[in-house]
Amino acid sequence: MNDIDKQAVVGVLNRLLEAELAGVVRYTHYSFLVFGFGRIPIVSWLRAQADESLVHAQQVGEWITALGAYPSLAIGPLLDSHKTDIGAMLRESLQAEGAALALYRELLDVVAGNSVALEEFARQMIHAEELHAAEVDKMLRKPGELAAFAGREDTKG
Ligand SMILES: [Fe+2]
Repeated sequence: MNDIDKQAVVGVLNRLLEAELAGVVRYTHYSFLVFGFGRIPIVSWLRAQADESLVHAQQVGEWITALGAYPSLAIGPLLDSHKTDIGAMLRESLQAEGAALALYRELLDVVAGNSVALEEFARQMIHAEELHAAEVDKMLRKPGELAAFAGREDTKG
């Protein structure tokens, strides 16, 4: 662990902390805005995502203080298209989760070969976030549609 570039690692960890805290706020916010027949399961799914983001934020924050650094109290960008349709919420989520995933990959890059524990943590989080993004992608497909939602022409821009 002595070989890691502590400043770079803490920099990425702080951006991750901000991104995960933004996830807590974003999913909680969405959960208030679900109306219609599907409300109950969708609200509980959104709240579970908020809880998971909080656990991730806590894990990241503990790493920051484990490295003897000060955790950021800022919060990441909060996308809000002010739409109350589930599709818009899920598309925003997919975008935000993609940004968090990129940060965990960046974490893996800066610790690779220098800290087994941080490398393991980064890999676990990449695993969790990729599965999560895949789940959201499936929710964005229409029943019977097999092709992934991400990367489609209408999802760009
Ligand atoms: Fe996360």
